[in-house]
Amino acid sequence: MREKSITRREFVKQAGQIAAATPLFALGAAAAPAAPVRRRYAVVGTGERACFMWGGDLVKRYGDVVEFAGLCDINPKRVGAAKAIMGVDCPTFTSFDEMCDRVKPDVVIVTTVDAFHSGYIVNALDRGIDVITEKPMVIDETQCQSVLDAEKRNHRKIVVTFNLRYPPKHQKIKELLLSGEIGRVISVDFNWYLDVSHGADYFRRWHRLKSRSGSLWVHKATHHFDLINWWLGADPVSVVADGRLGCYGRNGAFRSTHCRACPHTSQCRFFYDMTPDTTRMKLYAGCEDTDGYHRDGCVFREDVDIYDTMTALVKYSNDVTMTYSLNAFMPFEGYRVAFNGERGRLEVRDYQAQPWAVQDEADIHLTTSFGQRRIIDVPKAQGEHGGGDDRLRDLMFGTIEVPEYMRIPDSRAGAMSCLVGIAARKSIEEKRPIRIGDLVRL
Ligand SMILES: NC(=O)c1ccc[n+]([C@@H]2O[C@H](COP(=O)([O-])OP(=O)(O)OC[C@H]3O[C@@H](n4cnc5c(N)ncnc54)[C@H](O)[C@@H]3O)[C@@H](O)[C@H]2O)c1
Repeated sequence: MREKSITRREFVKQAGQIAAATPLFALGAAAAPAAPVRRRYAVVGTGERACFMWGGDLVKRYGDVVEFAGLCDINPKRVGAAKAIMGVDCPTFTSFDEMCDRVKPDVVIVTTVDAFHSGYIVNALDRGIDVITEKPMVIDETQCQSVLDAEKRNHRKIVVTFNLRYPPKHQKIKELLLSGEIGRVISVDFNWYLDVSHGADYFRRWHRLKSRSGSLWVHKATHHFDLINWWLGADPVSVVADGRLGCYGRNGAFRSTHCRACPHTSQCRFFYDMTPDTTRMKLYAGCEDTDGYHRDGCVFREDVDIYDTMTALVKYSNDVTMTYSLNAFMPFEGYRVAFNGERGRLEVRDYQAQPWAVQDEADIHLTTSFGQRRIIDVPKAQGEHGGGDDRLRDLMFGTIEVPEYMRIPDSRAGAMSCLVGIAARKSIEEKRPIRIGDLVRL
């Protein structure tokens, strides 16, 4: 089964319910213009991502097609704080079932802790509701199977919000590969660097537990594996991996519960003072007495059970092999990726944060064998995640036109990217290569 484009026409045909004029999930060119139809959206999990990617800004920008029907979070204080931050006017709930029964949304947006995505996705689909889910779609193969089965059984649609496909530089890489200039791709070298600020942040919160995030193999690397699957236009086939926890967790010489309560602040290089951030103080500190969720948790807590150092060898359906690494305590943030083709090499160094000045946000070089190196102009972008967040929202709720390969990612893309990370985690635990086809039935 290949990843499918979700055009407005297809979506309407498959879902059989929304009006042909609705821009949600539209790829600009696919539909005839008509008056927009507003759909009712409900959000589950009202932390930062819900507030700032899927919050009130959606109504401001796309109010002609978006109406907020309800917000839900298990923390009653946080859902109230989020409603104020988003500036939306809709009821709040601590029970998802009650929200769906009462406000009857057309679409559910899932922005909760990764481990709970699948339960809400399946529940929504079984109620006949379409789903937009944040990545990762799921954290293990059982969840993956239940989500895919629920989608098929209910003839509904899932969109997985892989915003990293949408920075203009990533579209450029896709176009260079499609141009065939480096010939058939034979192998890929891919290294992702998370720094001591952003990388450390995953060790402060629920992400530090495999049972909540599936580990960074899933939570973070699902983005990277989706990019590679999409860039290559191929499916992952098998994974062998290694990983360790080398910096955070039990490696620390001292620890506390969270930074605001810590007696070691003057010695700790990872001390994070959250108090000047008034939004985080309202959304997290102001609600932590209800659920004990410390947004500034200690990176050295002994219960950290994920890896901060990860390496994998992935084989693809088109015979490409990829060597991949993810390190979460680097002095800078960004990535390197190189596509080794039979007629040349496409090499990218992406800069996201580093203690030196850079001119461009990425260097892209294309060198042909027996030929010359060409430096490719990197399209400029504004906004979060290299401009990916805004472009993705425009694609989903606006009317921009894009080529077919910029399609909105579906459940298959969500599954294929998660499964690489799930296989990597399993490969470490079971000390053997894992075949993707043995994990789920697509
Ligand atoms: N695409 C991206 O670039 C991107 C960026 C950031 C986050 N995300 C994703 O968005 C999601 C949320 O991330 P975040 O940073 O906002 O996390 P967060 O911790 O700030 O928010 C999660 C919220 O879920 C709530 N919650 C916990 N358990 C719940 C349950 N069982 N039912 C309902 N609500 C529950 C928490 O109270 C919290 O409000 C994650 O899946 C994450 O992977 C994606």
